[in-house]
Amino acid sequence: MNFDFPLRDFSSLKGIDGLSDEQIAVHRKLYEGYVANSNKIRRELDAMRAAGDTDSIAFAELNRRLPFENNGIVLHELYFENLKPGGAAIPKGGKFERRVCERYGSVEAYLADLKAMAKMRGVGWVLTVQDPTTGWVENRWVTLHQDGNVAGYRVLLSLDVWEHAWCVDYKPTERPKYLDAVFAALDFDVVESRTL
Ligand SMILES: [Fe+2]
Repeated sequence: MNFDFPLRDFSSLKGIDGLSDEQIAVHRKLYEGYVANSNKIRRELDAMRAAGDTDSIAFAELNRRLPFENNGIVLHELYFENLKPGGAAIPKGGKFERRVCERYGSVEAYLADLKAMAKMRGVGWVLTVQDPTTGWVENRWVTLHQDGNVAGYRVLLSLDVWEHAWCVDYKPTERPKYLDAVFAALDFDVVESRTL
């Protein structure tokens, strides 16, 4: 049985104002790297298991590496899915708006918090997550791809704030320009569809 992660095609994601097609293509290429590396690590681990080589440092380090690569796949797929040219506003009267207002008081306060977190120094992700037990939503920071994810929480919105997300179009110091562009492209219809 083949346990390889499939490579999804986001090549049709073009025409976003302020994020060039080349920027998206380069970013998609990086996503391909996470798929390739995750599959490589899995195959190497399976070979080590088959050979009985599970007491080695390499076995331990590959197992520690896999969450970085695997979360790199998942968060990029969620990110590309919740972007589209022109974006889509938070649907009025929907589940997501209700949950956001419950937690932040208003849509404006939620978006201000999302942007404030996206301006934090360091590479990582800003996620809007939902606790499936309580239904509560909250913005959370994830360092790299794997530190800060809460097991079982649903990712409703994924926002990449690694510098590679804008370095084709903007200087490393120009994160605010990237944020203006990417916020205008956020597709909250997709976010709504992910909301419990
Ligand atoms: Fe990325």
